[in-house]
Amino acid sequence: MPNRSPIGIFDSGLGGLTVFKEIRKILPGEDLIYFGDTARVPYGNKSKETIIKYSKEISGFLIRKGVKIIVIACNTSSSLAMDDLRREVKIPVFGVIEPGAKKAAAVSGGRTIAVIGTQATIKSTAYSRAILQEFKNRGLAFGKVIEKSCPLLVPIVEEGLGLGTGNGFGRDIAKRIVSYYLDPVKQENPYCLVLGCTHYPIIKDLIEGVVGKGMEIIDSGVEAALFIKNFLEKENMLKEGEVSGINQFFVSDDPGRFVELGGKFLNMNIENIGIISDFT
Ligand code: DGL
Repeated sequence: MPNRSPIGIFDSGLGGLTVFKEIRKILPGEDLIYFGDTARVPYGNKSKETIIKYSKEISGFLIRKGVKIIVIACNTSSSLAMDDLRREVKIPVFGVIEPGAKKAAAVSGGRTIAVIGTQATIKSTAYSRAILQEFKNRGLAFGKVIEKSCPLLVPIVEEGLGLGTGNGFGRDIAKRIVSYYLDPVKQENPYCLVLGCTHYPIIKDLIEGVVGKGMEIIDSGVEAALFIKNFLEKENMLKEGEVSGINQFFVSDDPGRFVELGGKFLNMNIENIGIISDFT
């Protein structure tokens, strides 16, 4: 029987809207509830315990909203809280690491893969473990996985630097910082690069400009959206029908910045937004 309940998506803030956007594109009829933890962002420099605690609180909120599955759009939370959430929560939970890792292993065919993300994501080694597991599943020779944290890229994107196509001062700063992180990675000649953070797809063109067109760029959000669609189809859990799905947003702090910058990320007006400051 089809399942008409909404899909719950959460992130540490507005970056996860890149994943929301891909899910909305590929599943236009589904109702989506997005939670951005704007009061406590960033997660990328926090401890595992803290990230698990926040992720559990938000999942509890989404479950009370009646969602049929939970999507952890945040790479940091997917890296550190996935196992705990899957143990605790009774509905299916999906992260962005596994889909990104599967795609990277498939396209690389055992050649070197580079992954970039926040400090917490890279420290967790979640991507390299998932990629090596996938090499094993596919019977491929173990390629090398280079993992590199790029802590300045989230604030760069959140400041709106690097957005658009111009060559202004902001774009120039963003490009230099991308080069600072990725020039050494390029030296190792990886076959593909995994964007292991919600914010990086926003500056994908800049990243491509620095690494060159020859290196395939994998967006974990795109892969996660495909993965979720396949799952819902297989389990007969799609909402079905011709009517467009409803978008609902929640944040944990003043929504002003989320609405303004998030609207630019999504290229649409963010309406239907609420504030949740208490998870009990
Ligand atoms: N959403 C986070 C991620 O994908 C980036 C922002 C943060 O550090 O909270 O890892």
